Amino acid sequence: MSIILLAVGVFIGAAFIYHHIVVKGKKCTSKAELHGKTVIVTGSNTGIGRTTAINLARRGARVILACRCKQRGEAAQEDIRRESGSNQVVFMQLDLGSLESVRSFAETFLKSEPRLDLLINNAGICMQGRTKDGFGLMFGVNHLGHFLLTNLLLERLKESAPSRIVNVSSMAHNFGKIDFDSLNTHKCLGLGTSSVRVFQIYCDSKLCNVLFNHELAKRLQGTRVTCYALHPGAISSELGRNTSSLLHVLLKPVTVLFFKNTVQGCQTTLHCALQEGIEPLSGRYFSNCTVRELFAKAKDDAAAKKLWEISERLCGLV
Ligand SMILES: NC(=O)c1ccc[n+]([C@@H]2O[C@H](COP(=O)([O-])OP(=O)(O)OC[C@H]3O[C@@H](n4cnc5c(N)ncnc54)[C@H](OP(=O)(O)O)[C@@H]3O)[C@@H](O)[C@H]2O)c1
Ligand SMILES: *[C@@H]1O[C@H](CO)[C@@H](O)[C@H](O)[C@H]1NC(C)=O
Ligand SMILES: *[C@@H]1O[C@H](CO)[C@@H](O)[C@H](O)[C@H]1NC(C)=O
Ligand SMILES: *[C@@H]1O[C@H](CO)[C@@H](O)[C@H](O)[C@H]1NC(C)=O
Repeated sequence: MSIILLAVGVFIGAAFIYHHIVVKGKKCTSKAELHGKTVIVTGSNTGIGRTTAINLARRGARVILACRCKQRGEAAQEDIRRESGSNQVVFMQLDLGSLESVRSFAETFLKSEPRLDLLINNAGICMQGRTKDGFGLMFGVNHLGHFLLTNLLLERLKESAPSRIVNVSSMAHNFGKIDFDSLNTHKCLGLGTSSVRVFQIYCDSKLCNVLFNHELAKRLQGTRVTCYALHPGAISSELGRNTSSLLHVLLKPVTVLFFKNTVQGCQTTLHCALQEGIEPLSGRYFSNCTVRELFAKAKDDAAAKKLWEISERLCGLV
């Protein structure tokens, strides 16, 4: 009996130490202040978008919460104002699953906000479905909506330079591939609704993020606008809200021990947004507040260019 108790105690102790040293990860150490600067964080009513927004508001930035749901967005505006002690926090409606909504958000923003110093493409979703325009939901929201948004705001970013674009991708991109035939025939990265398929397509959409970052950095050369993609870590957030309840129950003990909370989960985003001196690393990929090498498929020039051109066509930019 006491042996079992001892074993359990040792296991919990080891897990605690492992959590504290490895899982929690590095913290963003930048002391940057952002008074007079304007930032947009997409999907900032919950998860790591919310903790990112709170941190930037505390540093004095004017923070635009770009969220799809008016009710959740306005509630977040109130919470984030209270938690950060700043009244420079403003909700503006943006549904990345509707190109019309992206255009109207950009129009409202450009009319009312004279500058843009930081664009944080954070919103993401992990479930099957279709956007208002009939695209696969994960391709549409995680990639295409952000693609259009970034392009519509690029001039304002250039005028406000030095400025940055930060793309929250995922390590999951390592398992991704881009099925261009499926994009052309089905307007999505893949079909099927099993958990395995959903995860595969989520990975594919995150590979799109990294490839975009690669192509965008090239197109931004010489502008003093820099861009970064990142993996935030495995985080307890609402991202898994649409996975099966069985998977939820099975994963619970794993998440408690091995997942970050949302404050730990936003540190790499903050690092890419704020860290002084990383401009020469534009176009690169970070995790645990550290630049990382990518596999060849995630910096494939031809695939990045092809995806850029298809995306331009799909959202009517050309
Ligand atoms: N959690 C992880 O372990 C993990 C790991 C690697 C990468 N990531 C990435 O980190 C980012 C943030 O994820 P999270 O974990 O914080 O997830 P989360 O808690 O689910 O938050 C996602 C946010 O995106 C918003 N969103 C979803 N669809 C949208 C749309 N059509 N238009 C506008 N906003 C939309 C959500 O709004 P609603 O509340 O209205 O749905 C929510 O605010 C995602 O890009 C995700 O892929 C997460
Ligand atoms: C993150 O970096 C810290 C400090 O260098 C290290 O102790 C930790 O193991 C790293 N965690 C991961 C998941 O790489
Ligand atoms: C971020 O990803 C979006 C969509 O994949 C893309 O349009 C944009 O250019 C990317 N920007 C950066 C900095 O990675
Ligand atoms: C996703 O989850 C939300 C909240 O739990 C629920 O309201 C919605 O119906 C789910 N959608 C699908 C397609 O499962």
